Amino acid sequence: MADLDGLREGHNYGIGVNVVSQHFPVKGAENLPWGMKDRLSRIFNMKTGRTVMLAFDHGFIMGPTSGLERIDLTILPLIEYADCLMCTRGILRAVVPPMTNKPICLRSDAGTSLLTSLNDNVLIDIEDAVRLNVSAMAVMLAIGEAEHEAKTVANLYKAVDAGTRYGIPVMGVTAVGKDMARDARYFGLASRIAAENGANIVKTYYCEGFEKVVAACPVPIVIAGGKKLPELEALELCYKAVNDGAAGVDMGRNVFQSEAPVAMLQAVKAVVHDNMSPNQAFELFNELKSR
Ligand code: R5P
Repeated sequence: MADLDGLREGHNYGIGVNVVSQHFPVKGAENLPWGMKDRLSRIFNMKTGRTVMLAFDHGFIMGPTSGLERIDLTILPLIEYADCLMCTRGILRAVVPPMTNKPICLRSDAGTSLLTSLNDNVLIDIEDAVRLNVSAMAVMLAIGEAEHEAKTVANLYKAVDAGTRYGIPVMGVTAVGKDMARDARYFGLASRIAAENGANIVKTYYCEGFEKVVAACPVPIVIAGGKKLPELEALELCYKAVNDGAAGVDMGRNVFQSEAPVAMLQAVKAVVHDNMSPNQAFELFNELKSR
């Protein structure tokens, strides 16, 4: 029996005061259940509605690519500056310390390597994603690849079904086939298909006319950085993307292949969250680099 001595009667009922209204600053997420929103709120900064994801899942296709030969040496020092980590379950278990307490966007499909063309993909068992306490699952969509399109759409669909059961959001990753034009028409199509099939976040690439890609996608879009660019150009890319409506970046090579990755990640964050101009962010990069 609870101790009832000294029980204080409630008196602060706020009679006549409206219930505090809540707004969830992630596009298309207002109607999602609590668990989904909790996970999304770990990925996206609730003040800016944006995120800087650090992607280092490349090894699942490329093996020990430049900058990822020793993730313990190159990526662990970056973790504290990232809003979210995107990696595979193998690297997560083997290298990322569980006490980092950062949200994880888990690469949740596999089946491709750089030695072959695109393969049929397989999907992670949802129980493994739950065991790893991930905040989102990333699944690739190969729109326009005749042989693999249907399989990857089915994978995304299954991931969304499983994610919905357990409250885990899904990020649709638009892969670009060799023959695809990297334009707003293609990225708009692929992004929209990802969202229509239930993705809660879409990762795609920046392009001319990107504002149309964003406008027609009912969930947040984050951009991949792509191949390594000079730092100022990479910061310009981030700036243009968020200016055109991206909810942030999911960036890998332009951070971990930078001459000063910690400085670069902080400069990217300044662009994404503080709307810093590319030139100012580049100055910040140089200043942090010289410390
Ligand atoms: C590629 O295999 C992954 O999906 C990467 O996470 C993605 O391309 C982002 O990395 P980057 O900025 O290097 O393109």
